[in-house]
Amino acid sequence: MVGTFRPRRLISVALLGALALGLAACGEAHPNTTFSHNSEYNTSIDQLWDKLLLLGTIVFVGVEVALLYVIFRFRRRPDSPQPKPVHGSTTLEITWTVIPALVLIVIAIPTVQTIFRTQAKAAPDALQVEAIGHQWWWEFRYPQYNIAVANELYLPVGRTVSFKLKTVDVLHSFWIPAMGGKRDLITNRTNYMWFTPNDTLPSSAWNGACAEFCGESHANMKFRTYTVKPDEFESWVKNQQQGIAVAAVPPAPAAAAPASAGVVPAALTPAGVQPALAVSAAAIPQRAPVWAFPADKIESQFGYTIPKTPIPAGNEFDDALLLNGDVARGQSAAGLCMACHAFTSNAMPYAVDVIAPNLTHIGSRHTIGSGLYPNDARHLARWIKNSGHMKPGSKMTPFGKGQIDGNTGKPSGMGMYTDAQIADIVAYLQALK
Ligand code: CUA
Repeated sequence: MVGTFRPRRLISVALLGALALGLAACGEAHPNTTFSHNSEYNTSIDQLWDKLLLLGTIVFVGVEVALLYVIFRFRRRPDSPQPKPVHGSTTLEITWTVIPALVLIVIAIPTVQTIFRTQAKAAPDALQVEAIGHQWWWEFRYPQYNIAVANELYLPVGRTVSFKLKTVDVLHSFWIPAMGGKRDLITNRTNYMWFTPNDTLPSSAWNGACAEFCGESHANMKFRTYTVKPDEFESWVKNQQQGIAVAAVPPAPAAAAPASAGVVPAALTPAGVQPALAVSAAAIPQRAPVWAFPADKIESQFGYTIPKTPIPAGNEFDDALLLNGDVARGQSAAGLCMACHAFTSNAMPYAVDVIAPNLTHIGSRHTIGSGLYPNDARHLARWIKNSGHMKPGSKMTPFGKGQIDGNTGKPSGMGMYTDAQIADIVAYLQALK
């Protein structure tokens, strides 16, 4: 028996296995990892984790070596003497109390230091952002700039951002894994958190999510974060501060009949491709500087933030109509949307509670449905037609003619738009840069 046992071979196999496992973990890009150094918050947590892993490994190896030694050294042999009883040994009792106490103290020092560092008050000149959870979307208010936006958070690199975390309904949890967090949004209470996106970061896009179960679309309560250069941030703010264009739009040309109803035009087939708004996008004046995180940069470098959710089966829409969407007709039809959505400006404070995302600059966002779908004509049209079908539990009632409201199981009282009218509204919303 003793002759066949090869501890050396066993150890080398175990080491090789551990190495292979370790290397496998390095083989892929992990854009949502928390083990990143994109902010001082994540850096502190990661360094603490490394320290604790090292200390824990030392303790583990020490304990296992001692255990194995004792098992083999004092194993039962035919001629072994009767072992000496050690029950009641004061020396042993003190030793195995003091050693773990020392180990805990050594672990507690960096842990408590990190807790105090990350829980301290944010710098007074920090960027203030109120992140407000709604079932199921995110509102981000920038009180210093008097704007409020939805589902897409812009942060300048190198500047500490101090979050006030609130919810208007149930518990949610704010989390940008690559930056820091997560922290709960608790009813009737304000939580705080701060971090500084590293000033060496290139302009980047990151995923954010709700990390606390908050109802049937919890998994669909995502958001995007853009860490951008300070001058890009200023441009974005300037654009968001501007009100919607209220200039009269020229009368719409007669609606061209859809050439081939039911057939998806080539320009619309890949998700994300926008139809050419030949009709009257120019009717809403473009104001410089208009800056939002560039879509082509997202596609080429930050594909992991592009929603891949398939359109649920059964949400039919005649995509050919989207090529004939008219901004002017859409503008008059969209009056109904104002019952819930603010349109005229992103400016705070609001006279009433916010119940739905602000749409003043909806065309400058890259996602809809709280990060669930790309903000393109195909998805937007189906969203307006029946958002509850696109996102379970959505509080927005269906606006498509004859659609069933998923929340009531009855035909929607607001279901008044034909596909052609929805195509007009889509054209209008997309023009709101
Ligand atoms: Cu909000 Cu989960």
